[in-house]
Order: sequence, then structure tokens, then C-alpha cells
Amino acid sequence: MPTEVQAYLDCRPGKTIVDCTVGGGGHSRDILQRIIPGGMLIGIDQDRDALRNAERMLAPWSENLRLLHGNFSRISDLLEGVGVHAVDGILADLGISLYHIEGSGRGFSFSRDEPLDMRMNLETSRTAGELVNTLSAEALARIFREYGEERWSGRIARAIVAARKSGPVRSSLALADIVRKAAPAPRRRPGERRRIHPATRVFMALRIAVNRELESISAFMDQAPGLLRSGGRLCVLTFHSLEDRIVKHRMKSLEKGCTCPPGLPVCACGGRATMRVLTRKACRPTAAEIDRNPMARSAILRVAEKG
Ligand SMILES: C[S@@+](CC[C@H](N)C(=O)[O-])C[C@H]1O[C@@H](n2cnc3c(N)ncnc32)[C@H](O)[C@@H]1O
Repeated sequence: MPTEVQAYLDCRPGKTIVDCTVGGGGHSRDILQRIIPGGMLIGIDQDRDALRNAERMLAPWSENLRLLHGNFSRISDLLEGVGVHAVDGILADLGISLYHIEGSGRGFSFSRDEPLDMRMNLETSRTAGELVNTLSAEALARIFREYGEERWSGRIARAIVAARKSGPVRSSLALADIVRKAAPAPRRRPGERRRIHPATRVFMALRIAVNRELESISAFMDQAPGLLRSGGRLCVLTFHSLEDRIVKHRMKSLEKGCTCPPGLPVCACGGRATMRVLTRKACRPTAAEIDRNPMARSAILRVAEKG
């Protein structure tokens, strides 16, 4: 949703903006074109491959660009490390990139046979293969249920543990095959154009667990508002309901300020509203954008402005 993101970020010459998820560099390039002259883009990504590509792609703006390797769950420390304490806008475009699916060779997709890795940051431990081959059936089922909302989580987890008896599950296709045999093909859910492959939710759940994605988003949402100058905007693009729930609730509570339990006659916490939500209704891609880029179909943009 590049047009909507740029409209809400409201980038102008001289501003300092953080792109917490540089990835392929598309949003970063759009931001850089708007903040020159005099502006600064701080680009973060936890994947060094993404940063290397971005450095090449964004070379024409290198004087206005600072690229940092790290997890946005540590955004305060990362910015402090480069002497930045307040910024005019923060963007997070969550999840994995097209590069991860099509070019990384890390087993994010079962459309090709690759080792089960699924780490965005290759310097962290715990690959998807480690989880699949070491966790108990109960622990695997919990991951598939909580992160994938998978109805057949128990059956699939037991099938994986049974398959391990004849050797480790090493590749994306091997895992997809076990899931396909264990789970009945899912019925189409409301809003889904076609039936999804039975392994889709399992792969998403594993990826979320490997990269601790929900914990990172929560930590990010705790820090990002405090880094914005008055009038600065926080724009977050999510791609599934678990991510969106965290962002939506956190933005709402920042707008409300008060954290007292409902029913108290007067506020006892003294909390004050610090942000104003600009996207009353979730902002979604247009039909034309979904036609151009089917990966955008589940995107939701939420934006809040610092008071
Ligand atoms: C959806 S892609 C971003 C695409 C990008 N906005 C563009 O225009 O091409 C998400 C990127 O964020 C990175 N990422 C995901 N979670 C992260 C986290 N917690 N901290 C830092 N980077 C993260 C991924 O490595 C990936 O490169």
C-alpha cells in the first residue's frame, strides 16, 4: 500500500524517518525521495541480506541514509546507538519479504524444496528444523493452534512426531507432505478466494515461532510512540490477525491513556492520551492493488499520531 503509507507518513524535506523493515527497499526509496534535501532515513532490518540489497538500491541517497542491522524490538537502543532520540515518523511493514519466499533458500515456502530454516536473522538460534525435530507433540500443537489458528493442530503435531521415528524432517517439502497426509483439506473460509494448502497455516505458525514475531511487535509498540516528536506518525502494516490485534489494541490504549479497569467512577491511574488514531477503520488495499500484487490482499494499515 505504498500510496496510503506515503500519504499518512507525511514525509517532507528535512524530516527524520525510521523504516523498521527495509526489506526490498520500496518504502525506503519513496521516503528518501520525499525527505531530501536535509532529511535522514534510518533503515532497520534484522536480515543482513536485505540490508546489503538495500544499500545497493538506495545508493543514490546514501548521504541521507543510515542502515542498521537489528530487531525492531530494540528500536530505542538501535536509535540511541546512532545518537538519535526523537524522529518524525516510524514505519513498520511486518512479516517476511518476497526475497525470503523466493530467493533466500530458507524454507519459508513449500512451493520449493529447501532446508527448514525460516530465520529472518541468521545470527539467531532455533531454526524451524530444530523446533520440528525436537519439540513434543503438545508444544508443536500449541504453536500451530496459537500462531496458525490451525484446526487440526493436534493431528498434525502427532504425525510429525511419528514421522521423526524414521529420521529428522529436514525439508520444506517433507514437512508439507506430512501435514497434507495428516490434515483434511481445509474448507474455504469466508473471504478466501480459493482453498488454501493444508500446510499454509503450519508454515506461518512455525515462522512466527522461530522469529518470535509477536513478542517483537509488542516490544516495538511499547517503545515506538516514545520516540516520536509531537505530530510524528506511527504507521504499521500487518498481514494477519494476530499482528493486527496487537497493533490495534496498543494504539487504542495510547489514545485512551487511562488504564483503569472499566467501572471505576474516577480515573485512578492518571494515564494521559499520548496518540490519536488516524485510521478509524482499518485501511486496506484497493482491489486494483490486490490484482497487481496478490500478496497484499490481507494487508491492514493502522496509523496513529503523537499528540
Ligand atoms: C514485508 S518485508 C518489508 C518490505 C519493504 N517495506 C519493502 O518496501 O520492500 C519485511 C522486512 O522486515 C524485516 N523484519 C521482519 N521482522 C523484523 C524485526 N522484528 N526486526 C527487524 N526487521 C524485521 C524482514 O527481514 C523483511 O526484510
